[in-house]
Amino acid sequence: MRFSEEFAAALYQVLKDDLPKEEIQQLIEKPKHAEHGDLAFPCFSLAKIQRMAPQSIAEQLSRAVQSPLFEKVEAAGGYVNAFLDKKYVTKLVLEEVMAKKEQYGTLHIGKGEVIVIDMSSPNIAKPFSMGHLRSTVIGQSLALLLAKGGYRPVKINHLGDWGTQFGKLIAAYKKWGDEQKVKEHPIKELLALYVKFHDEAERNPELEAEGRQWFKRLEDGDQEAVVLWEWFREESLKDFSRIYQLLNIEFDSYAGEAFYNDKMDRIVRRLEEKGLLTESEQAQVVLLAEEELPPCLIKKSDGATLYATRDLAAAFYRKETYHFAQSLYVVGGEQRLHFKQLTSVLKKMGESWADELIHIPFGMMRKDGKKMSTRKGQVVLLEEVLQESIALAKKNIELKNPGLANKEEVARQVGVGAIVFNDLKNYRLNNIDFSLEDILRFEGETGPYVQYTHARACSILRKAGFHAEEKRTVVLSGEKEWEAVSLMMSFPEAIEKAINEFDPSRIAKHTIQLAQAFNKYYAEVKVLEEDEQQLSRLAFVSAVAQLLKEGLALLGIEAPDEM
Ligand code: ARG
Repeated sequence: MRFSEEFAAALYQVLKDDLPKEEIQQLIEKPKHAEHGDLAFPCFSLAKIQRMAPQSIAEQLSRAVQSPLFEKVEAAGGYVNAFLDKKYVTKLVLEEVMAKKEQYGTLHIGKGEVIVIDMSSPNIAKPFSMGHLRSTVIGQSLALLLAKGGYRPVKINHLGDWGTQFGKLIAAYKKWGDEQKVKEHPIKELLALYVKFHDEAERNPELEAEGRQWFKRLEDGDQEAVVLWEWFREESLKDFSRIYQLLNIEFDSYAGEAFYNDKMDRIVRRLEEKGLLTESEQAQVVLLAEEELPPCLIKKSDGATLYATRDLAAAFYRKETYHFAQSLYVVGGEQRLHFKQLTSVLKKMGESWADELIHIPFGMMRKDGKKMSTRKGQVVLLEEVLQESIALAKKNIELKNPGLANKEEVARQVGVGAIVFNDLKNYRLNNIDFSLEDILRFEGETGPYVQYTHARACSILRKAGFHAEEKRTVVLSGEKEWEAVSLMMSFPEAIEKAINEFDPSRIAKHTIQLAQAFNKYYAEVKVLEEDEQQLSRLAFVSAVAQLLKEGLALLGIEAPDEM
């Protein structure tokens, strides 16, 4: 809470000789119980310095602290408890929110530093999984939060577009493929071919050899192989881009694994020069025994490179291209080991920036207690889930507000927002249970609930003909508004924590709380009553609407004005 700085300043006036300001600031707490005020300063460490009982110090201090911010300053149990003046603070906060508009909560902690975010990164010719969805929405929210914090995020979609599986796919397509079918449903068809290849290969092992040959041809730049691979990639991207469009997400780069094909030699040579490559079962590996990790595989016995080799090259490329301060990898927890190995290899190479690589793991999306996966051939197409959610949202609109003007667009915003919010409201490492019905509820902790609250606030403002642009003075007792105003006050702090912990759920929770506080207020207070405080109440409603919208925006969720 930023008023803690003023509290610290007031305390510092008295404590100058004993404690530096920063230390005072650090000691200040937010009491758990309202009866202990809004801010508390513990006097226990001072007691040692001054050789006095903490409570006596607290009493002295509480008499000395003077600020219009506080209506009361009390000593209790060795603490100085300060109670904010609700009327005064409500005025300050609301006027600030209205004056700063979208800039409210903007921070400058990033100082323009670049942070690369490796996110989404689905695999070509395979379905976009729930894991990829999580990576996409967490990555997107982190990018938005970082930008709000004054960083420069760079979003990279590290497509899985290279590897031996493409040899198999080409072989399968040559045998059983149908161009028209692939064009109609790229991912579905390509996956079916891939699955068929594996089934057939069980009976006919020669197929494996054929697949390897095709991959070799692909790596050697064989015209036919390359053309097919490019086509698979392009068709797959068409499928993926429909999902990105629904989610309203764009990337700064689609440099996937294949992009690094001509950038690995240099790195492998560097490993060699540093004496880090060891032959093991005819493969080239970097031993990581000292780090208590299994060896990192760099080249297979046939000279083929691997996922890790490409990630190593990508790490160098990104450092050299973007000069990042941090390089984030928003990738499921299953790949923990891989990223530990990556950092360890870089460290062994003597790269001082190795620790700037940060894996941001997340838990699984589950349905009925089981991982939501794309089991053999049985595709849970994410796009279908999104479309289903949009259809449900549409049904809801038809029921509640059939006259709504842009139903299709609002249904998309609500249907997609519901899924995104359900993902981001949980701490990312937790596993998430997936139930469309729950996700789309208009009450409880859901995206539609927040969106609906925002729309309701907008409708009040519309009805009153209120315009947020005009400058206003707020006169409110602040009693009924206090819960919401406290949340507005701590919004910048929530953003900072979300950034520092790479945790969008802080914003989701904050936004839910604000929506709840507002709905409680709205049930108790007649906002539109025509008295001298009407404009001030409307200013409050307008500030709530603005912060709900901003909170959702930081999660990558749109907030319709009407729904
Ligand atoms: N394509 C990979 C997968 O689906 C994720 C890639 C993550 N990013 C990376 N740089 N390794 O599992």
